[in-house]
Amino acid sequence: MIDLHSHLLPGVDDGSRSVAQSVGVLRTMAEVGLTDVCLTPHFRAGQITEVPPPAHETAFAALTAEAPPQPKLHRGAEVMMDRPLAGSAAGLRHITLAGTRYILVEFPRMVAGDTVANALGRIVDLGLIPIVAHPERYSCCSPAAASRWRELGAGMQVDANTLLAPQTRGQRARALVAQGLADILAGDNHGDDRTMAAGRRFLLEQGGEEQAELLTVLNPAAILRDEPLAPVPPLQIRTSLVQRIRELFEDER
Ligand SMILES: [Fe+2]
Repeated sequence: MIDLHSHLLPGVDDGSRSVAQSVGVLRTMAEVGLTDVCLTPHFRAGQITEVPPPAHETAFAALTAEAPPQPKLHRGAEVMMDRPLAGSAAGLRHITLAGTRYILVEFPRMVAGDTVANALGRIVDLGLIPIVAHPERYSCCSPAAASRWRELGAGMQVDANTLLAPQTRGQRARALVAQGLADILAGDNHGDDRTMAAGRRFLLEQGGEEQAELLTVLNPAAILRDEPLAPVPPLQIRTSLVQRIRELFEDER
């Protein structure tokens, strides 16, 4: 598996606080089969500088000195779109995923669907490919909205753990995967015990071997090679027994 969204660059955002904490997480990730991890510290679009902040360089050097040989580490960022991205695609490569055209972006939770569409369109116009981090968090994220964002040229990154969540965002995440609208899964680890393994297991339990491979291995690998994403077939996700009983009860009323 390849995880392209993590907050394991130590001491630079709300993720891992120390090299030791990051190293512990990376060892666990290697144990569950992660081959590659992209470090994606938070940035605000309005605060992007032409070169990586010196503190990030120092943190990366400290981490690589202690990190296990696997997973392989890549650099990137998770960019909060508080304003349009300025600059050229070439000048933004230090914040894209592993220096490719793919850039991981996020939005405030209550963002409007049109605002997301406008921002994604402008990123595509720059010659970059936006990957929307955890679209299931946004209240505007319906399958129809995600379809529109994908038609603009964006990819959707669903948080692997959220696939198992009972809340609305879990339902949104499952709906995206069910309709073939998710492109990759990622862990969004903040120095904790989250890995992509639970999300992959969930897909396998649903009979989604092809989808699991595309979402956790093949499409993330395509991004690292700066190649196009492969379409992910829809997957029928069986509702839980509790949900089925509730639906039966509602049918009888
Ligand atoms: Fe994140």
